[in-house]
Amino acid sequence: MTLSRREFIAANGALLGAAVLPRSLLAEVEARSAPMPALKDWNQIRRQFRLTPEYLHFSGFYIASHPQVVREAIESFRNALDANPFLTVEHGMFESEAQNLQEKVRVDIAAYLGGKPDEIALTPNTTTGLALVYHGLPLKSGDEVLVTTHDHVVHHEAIRLSTERNGASVRKITLFDDAARASAEAIVSRVREGIGPKTRVLGITWVHSATGIRLPVRQIADAVGEINSKRDEKERMVLVVDGVHGIGAVDATIADLGADFFCAGTHKWMFAPRGTGIVWARAQNWARLRPLIPSFSDLEVYEAWTEQRPVRGPTVAARVSPGGFLAYEHQWAMGTAFRMHQQIGRARIAQRVAELNGRCKDGLSSIKKVRLITPRDASLSAGINCFEVAGQKPGETVKRLLERKIIASESPYAKSYARLSAGLMNTPEQVDQAVAAVRAIAG
Ligand SMILES: Cc1ncc(COP(=O)(O)O)c(C=O)c1O
Repeated sequence: MTLSRREFIAANGALLGAAVLPRSLLAEVEARSAPMPALKDWNQIRRQFRLTPEYLHFSGFYIASHPQVVREAIESFRNALDANPFLTVEHGMFESEAQNLQEKVRVDIAAYLGGKPDEIALTPNTTTGLALVYHGLPLKSGDEVLVTTHDHVVHHEAIRLSTERNGASVRKITLFDDAARASAEAIVSRVREGIGPKTRVLGITWVHSATGIRLPVRQIADAVGEINSKRDEKERMVLVVDGVHGIGAVDATIADLGADFFCAGTHKWMFAPRGTGIVWARAQNWARLRPLIPSFSDLEVYEAWTEQRPVRGPTVAARVSPGGFLAYEHQWAMGTAFRMHQQIGRARIAQRVAELNGRCKDGLSSIKKVRLITPRDASLSAGINCFEVAGQKPGETVKRLLERKIIASESPYAKSYARLSAGLMNTPEQVDQAVAAVRAIAG
């Protein structure tokens, strides 16, 4: 539930009555629902991006270039905010449920995720989402958080910072020794072996930015569910998934993936505005969390404060969405990116990502001095391809590709690899050019 206008006005001592956003600003604010272009062919989709043509962009997964439809939505909201910040924020955030722009964003996101709008918390990125979940879970001394050795620094740090406060212990397990030869069955059995009697949380990453491997999240969730079914209610584990490199790249109904908490930035594969993300969870899981950051999106919290009484009811997603005034033009334009993905088609996007990256992996594997780290199997990979060139450090490979105007990246992990990642901004021909450049520098 959102703050009503009356409540907000009362809080600010203003008396505007039923002030309405001027028609011109209303049009700006409503531009989010402007008709989406057909986006039928890949060249038309590629033209959505304003990427410099001097380079071949193979690190699109790092942080999004805003597509045209998203730029336009941001611009509309920005115009309205610059013209009249007070009335625009009032209208968009506090006036009524029906006009609330965060609600509209949640509706667009839920249509893509397959869940319900009120299951979604809006965050600035994956990092904040993970921190909200790990700090919000009621962990205590004697509980264990089980995580893997493959996760991103922000995932491990969210756990460290939380468990240093609450006294729970942390254990890390390795899910495979060689990503290229991993199998879903072997990964799931490592998970089963790793879970201990005190494990209360299992943290995993859907698509690893360290190796490009995609975990069989559904099968892991089923294993967790089976172990949980033999446990007392209070000893059951929750599954936390860092899904940032799966959402927008893989054709999956995220609400059915099996995660209890799904955390993702939407400013990578989803092409939503930079500085946006989500946490998705069902109502019973939100109810387990203690919010960490004050919310602007939950009327009950505000009413409890004004009436000087305890907050009623269970924690809900809106109560966990960090409040404070934000760069609203970015947050409110998130929905446009989700609608763009729906318009192109989730399955079509995933197929394109698989085709381009499959082509990249085939090409890299054909080079004698190159070792591909990411599995060739499309069901165990997504859009990130990690590799090493014999006799070269990953940083050197990336630098030499950059000299050839190809933007690759180096994975920021203790064991790092060079990475090429193809997305909707790339063509099969560009993939071939990138592979040819790797061949040339491999010697
Ligand atoms: C696996 C993984 N998780 C989390 C992050 C951090 O993402 P965000 O910028 O959305 O916090 C990254 C960064 O690229 C990542 O690769």
